[in-house]
Amino acid sequence: MCGIMGYVGPQEAGPILVDGLKRLEYRGYDSAGVAVTNGSINVRKAQGKIANLEDMLEVEPLVGSIGIGHTRWATHGAPTDANAHPHTDPSGEFVVVHNGIIENFQSLREQLAADGSEFTSETDSEVLAHLVAREYDGDLVEAVRKAVALSDGAYAMVVMSKREPRKIVAVRKISPLVVGLGDGETFLASDIPAVLHHTRDFLIIEDDELVVVTEDGATVETIDGEPVDRDAIHVTWDAEQAEKGGYEHFMLKEINEQPAVVTETLAGRLDEDGTVWLEDVDFGDDYAAAIDRVWITACGTAYHAGLIGQEIFRRILRLPTNVEYAHELRYADPIVGPNELTIAISQSGETADTLAAARLAGDNGSRMLAITNVVGSTLSRYADDILYTRAGPEISVASTKAYMAMLIAQYLLALRIGAARGTVNAELAARVSHGLHQMPAALEEVLRREPEALAAAELIRSAEDVYFIGRGLDYAIAMEGSLKLKEISYLHSEAMPAGELKHGTLALITDGVPVVVMLTQRDVYDKTISAVQEVKARGGAVIAVAYDTDTEIDKYADLVLRIPDMEDLMAPVAAVIPLQLMAYHVARLRDNDIDQPRNLAKSVTVE
Ligand code: G6P
Repeated sequence: MCGIMGYVGPQEAGPILVDGLKRLEYRGYDSAGVAVTNGSINVRKAQGKIANLEDMLEVEPLVGSIGIGHTRWATHGAPTDANAHPHTDPSGEFVVVHNGIIENFQSLREQLAADGSEFTSETDSEVLAHLVAREYDGDLVEAVRKAVALSDGAYAMVVMSKREPRKIVAVRKISPLVVGLGDGETFLASDIPAVLHHTRDFLIIEDDELVVVTEDGATVETIDGEPVDRDAIHVTWDAEQAEKGGYEHFMLKEINEQPAVVTETLAGRLDEDGTVWLEDVDFGDDYAAAIDRVWITACGTAYHAGLIGQEIFRRILRLPTNVEYAHELRYADPIVGPNELTIAISQSGETADTLAAARLAGDNGSRMLAITNVVGSTLSRYADDILYTRAGPEISVASTKAYMAMLIAQYLLALRIGAARGTVNAELAARVSHGLHQMPAALEEVLRREPEALAAAELIRSAEDVYFIGRGLDYAIAMEGSLKLKEISYLHSEAMPAGELKHGTLALITDGVPVVVMLTQRDVYDKTISAVQEVKARGGAVIAVAYDTDTEIDKYADLVLRIPDMEDLMAPVAAVIPLQLMAYHVARLRDNDIDQPRNLAKSVTVE
């Protein structure tokens, strides 16, 4: 997500910080800033591109050889100058940059405000600067430790103070942090590529560790103060490999980030009992109870996420829900109206058709809720309610982790609306909550099975056509699996409800034609198996996505991609991963440009 830089050594810190931040630009950001200590702490920060910050530094340069810097990708508060990092405490003696989310920032902020603190931004991060200042009693490390103990969430924070001017203290709680070891100088960064041209020797900071950085190196300890003996690693990657975290492509990196994305999307929003807190969803229970119909509108992968939402809303809310392509809905002669909630889903929040459909719905009296990944995007500005997906910048054109976050967001929304309407009882709410909280571990397990997906890719790499079938939620996933495959492998593929196969497409199933069948919905399992038998009878090659405990499928399938057993309602979240990996490997085997597939754009801002 956001980028972090730090420097302490003999050189001017400002240019080194800015240069490091530029090397993190590929991750996406919407504002940038640096702070340098030189007797006092001086901060420069600006909305928009790093060039704006550079212009500012040209007019008002920073002098000093220790500093921290940040590129922000907004989560709390719009991308403005004031919300850009670094943030200082009111005295200006402590300065912080931060990645990730402080889940309990609202209550911390209220406490601090009650004690007289005045805030200059809307961010959760500013709270950290105030907390460290409040807890400081002659020992910066101790103050940071106390601030961390008070701050729930997944994040990385970096602190500098004029009281202890030759050190930087940083903590990792999930968000990445590395220390680059130079000769008489030390670097700190969220990612290796930021400083790879300065050094190849790195200390990788682990979760719940604290590091003190000086020009002589770094000392690592646990957040509880136990010393940690961390060996430096020597990185041999080139800069491009480093940007991809050592993965061959951004797509593979992003597929592998999905467990963390689920954690991030859920952070601070879901209690064990299924109670949901959605910070920018403003409608009350009365409104939720009075909704007559839900419209979901989107394009591409976001539309497929909407198909999942439709199933969830119909099933657990018993609420009539229609999902419509935005480019269709916008010309559908207003069929959306008051008492109807329109949910527009868009990773970028800038897709022209989705914006038009959302406007049309709003103009016709429908309340408009945006599910988007980009804070301050056009869609978010237009929406009545916003549910940010927090997937972090997605670079590969073929969407994976943003889709994952869209699914999670819709489960949360269903719980929120269901509680107000009384259609989700306490037992179901707790079950869904449990399933979602277990999901990151389940996804890790699915990711470990990548070799199965590679074997499936070998099977279909030379096919002319590939078909995907499933029922209900499985059909929705089949749609996304098929899209992933065609986007990057350029194979023709089609998805359909399993029951539809015999109404036409079966004519195309001949010897060896691959059919991918999704089998995670137990209530229609036997029905789907009938379709599998139809395929087998025509010589088709069956690739199944099935639970670990499903032994029945072994009788029919040429290859099975396994996912751990889980509640059917949540299974799509795990079942999409083997399909993403399979598409990835087919494209790789066919030597395609995976991250930039031909003819496609990440964001389509024209009609
Ligand atoms: C383009 C991208 C797709 C994406 C779609 C919708 O077609 O290539 O990956 O799903 O736009 O984008 P959005 O930003 O609205 O989710």
